Amino acid sequence: MNPKILILGPPGAGKGTQSERLATEFDVEHVTTGDALRANKEMDISDMDLEYDTPGEYMDQGDLVPDVVVDAMVEEALSDLDGFVLDGYPRNGDQAEALREMTDLDVVLVLDVPEEELVDRLTGRRVCEDCGANYHVEFNQPEEEGVCDKCGGELYQREDDNEESVRNRLSVYHDNTEPVLELYEDHDGYVEIDGDQTPDEVWDDVRSAVESNA
Ligand code: AP5
Ligand code: MG
Ligand code: ZN
Repeated sequence: MNPKILILGPPGAGKGTQSERLATEFDVEHVTTGDALRANKEMDISDMDLEYDTPGEYMDQGDLVPDVVVDAMVEEALSDLDGFVLDGYPRNGDQAEALREMTDLDVVLVLDVPEEELVDRLTGRRVCEDCGANYHVEFNQPEEEGVCDKCGGELYQREDDNEESVRNRLSVYHDNTEPVLELYEDHDGYVEIDGDQTPDEVWDDVRSAVESNA
């Protein structure tokens, strides 16, 4: 059986970076609501009677996309998977409750990183437009500037990686998602990880946490 892994932590903690490695190492699917929503930014949700008509309008400001949209995406994505690493969900108590009804989890990882560090990580992030790999202009540079090491794709800066959206994302995290961590503290396989180390050092801790709990 492949492990069912949940990875939690603030924007910029390294969830995407570590999830890529988990997916390869443990042969599981990387299910990420952020990437799924970015691929559907222009989706017409006007019939749902929400504040905005597309997910992108919430995302560019750093606000949460409404639960009805996100819950359905995750349920669909997890429905035929054996193992996975789930990144970006749940982000509030209602989503955590929805997830509890969808699946069980073998490992719950929490990446801990101080807030000052997060702003620098996010404003310097670059993402591959083809495979989604994450880089950083200073902390995690590709071999050739602007080009993905893994697939040769072009690197771009996310619309929500400007200082204003970043500050809003951190405050949304603090108000909505931080309280969710408490719901998992007593869960089997719950491990807090020091995310304020190099990506390779974090990976050593992440890998051993999964190995000893899956
Ligand atoms: P999402 O895409 O999930 O963004 P996020 O939660 O803000 O998290 P990030 O992807 O920014 O951070 P990460 O932890 O993956 O960090 P990364 O590995 O890239 O969500 C975007 C938006 O979608 C939300 O704002 C919301 O609108 C919507 N959304 C998504 N899910 C939703 C949900 N469930 N409900 C409602 N709305 C939802 O690393 C960051 C940078 O740091 C990179 O440059 C990387 O190279 C670098 N780095 C990584 N590790 C290290 C390290 N150890 N040391 C130094 N640098 C590092
Ligand atoms: Mg991410
Ligand atoms: Zn790529």
